[in-house]
Amino acid sequence: MKHLSHLLIALVLFITPLFSQNTNEFTIASEKGDRMEWWTEARFGMFIHWGLYALPARHEWVMSNEKMPKKAYEKYMEYFNPDLYNPKEWARLAKNAGMKYVVFTAKHHDGFSMFDSKFTDYKVTNAPIKRDLLKELVDAFRAEEIRIGLYYSLIDWHHPDFLVKDPIHPERNNQEAISKDGQRNKKTFQKYLKNQLTELLTNYGKIDVLFADFSYPQKENGKGKDYWNSEDLYKLIRKLQPQIILNDRLDLEKEAGWDYKSPEQFMPQNWVTYQGEKVPWETCQTFSGSWGYHRDEFTWKSPRQTIAMLIETVSKGGNLLLNVGPTARGVIQDEAVERLEATQEWMKYNSRSIYGCTQAPEEFKTPDNCLLTYNPKTNRLYVHVLEWPFKTIYLPGLAGKVKYAQILNDASELKLDSKKGAWLDDVKEGDNGLKITIPVRAPNVEIPVIELFLN
Ligand code: GLC
Repeated sequence: MKHLSHLLIALVLFITPLFSQNTNEFTIASEKGDRMEWWTEARFGMFIHWGLYALPARHEWVMSNEKMPKKAYEKYMEYFNPDLYNPKEWARLAKNAGMKYVVFTAKHHDGFSMFDSKFTDYKVTNAPIKRDLLKELVDAFRAEEIRIGLYYSLIDWHHPDFLVKDPIHPERNNQEAISKDGQRNKKTFQKYLKNQLTELLTNYGKIDVLFADFSYPQKENGKGKDYWNSEDLYKLIRKLQPQIILNDRLDLEKEAGWDYKSPEQFMPQNWVTYQGEKVPWETCQTFSGSWGYHRDEFTWKSPRQTIAMLIETVSKGGNLLLNVGPTARGVIQDEAVERLEATQEWMKYNSRSIYGCTQAPEEFKTPDNCLLTYNPKTNRLYVHVLEWPFKTIYLPGLAGKVKYAQILNDASELKLDSKKGAWLDDVKEGDNGLKITIPVRAPNVEIPVIELFLN
C-alpha cells in the first residue's frame, strides 16, 4: 500500500512538469504577470499608421475600397518623399501626452515595407526618401524612453503569392488575377512573413509589443492561422523576443497564443473577458475614424471625448492605444496635435489616476456622472467627475472608508465631515454613502478628479 502511494507520488511529480512545459509554449498573459507588468502600468500608448496610403489621403484601405490594381497603387511609391519627417517631434508629442509606448505600422495591408527589408523591393528605401524610416522612429522614441511596438500586417495585397480570391483583396473581382491563384505558393508567402518578422525582431533592438493584423477565417475565402502558419510564427516571435507582448489577431485564440484582446474603435461595456475570465485588453481608437491620413474626414472626437475615453478605458481595466495618421510630408496634423496637447494638459495634473490604475473594486459603486479608477498599490480611489455637481458629491458605499480626500489637480483638501442639508436631510437611515462638500466652482481642468485615500 505504502509502496503504491510512493509510486503514485513519484509518477505525479514526473508527469506534472511535462504538462506544464507543454502549456508553457502558449500561455496567456494573465498567467504571465511579469511580462505584462509594464504594459498594465502604462495604460496609454500611441498608434501610428503611416505608409503609402498617406498620399491618396483617403483611408489606409483605399487600395481595397477602390479595388485598385497593384500597378495603380504602386505608383505612390514613386512619390513617397516625406521631407518634413521628424520622429523626434512625434516622440516628444507622445511623451508629453503621457503615452508610454508606441505601435508603428512597419507594414500595412498594402504590403509596402516602411523599413529596409532584404526580402522585397517594395520598400521605403527604394522610394525617393530612401531612408529606413522605421529605424529613425525607433531611435527617436527610445530616446524618450517610450517602449517600442510594431504593427505588422499578415495580409499583403502586394505579394505575388498572396491569394487574390479573398473577400477583402483589392483585386477580388479581377478574374484574371484570380485565375492565377493556382500558381501562387502559400509556402513561399509563409516564408516571407517569417523572414520579415525575423528582420523586424532582430534588427531593431528590443521590441516590446507586436501587433499582428489580422485574421478573418470566418469569412468565405478568408484567411486565418493555417494560411499564415500562425503556430510557427508564434514560436518564432517568442524565440526572438521572449518578453514581447502580442495581440490576439494571429487566430490562436484557443491555443492561447496571445497576450491581450484588441477591440478596435469600440468601447466595451465591461472589462473584456475570454471564457468568462477577465483578460488584459487594449482598445485602439482613432481621433477621426480613419487610421491612415484622411484629408476629408471631419468626424473628429473632441479633446474632452478623447480624455474621457482614456479614463473610461482604465475604469474597465484596459489600455488605450490612440492613433495618429501623419501626412505624406511626415507631419502629424494640427487637429491631432491639438488633442494630444489637451491630453498633455490634463495628464500633467491627473495622470496619477491613470498609471497603474484599474477598475475599482466592486464594493465601490460609481457615483452619478462619474468614472472610477483605482490604484491597488496605493489603495487610492479616483473619482472622475464628468459633470461637476452643486456643492456636494455623493459617493455610494464609501462611508467610513475614506481617511483623506483632495482635488487631484491642486491637492486641495475636501473636508470629509459634510454638513447635513440646510433644508432637509435627505440621507436615508442605513445609508452607507459618503457626502463630501465640494466647491461650487469646478476645478479648471477638462475633467476634474477627486482623489480618495482609503482606509
Ligand atoms: C484593422 C484594419 C486596419 C487598422 C487596424 C487597427 O485591422 O484593417 O486598417 O490598421 O485594424 O487596429
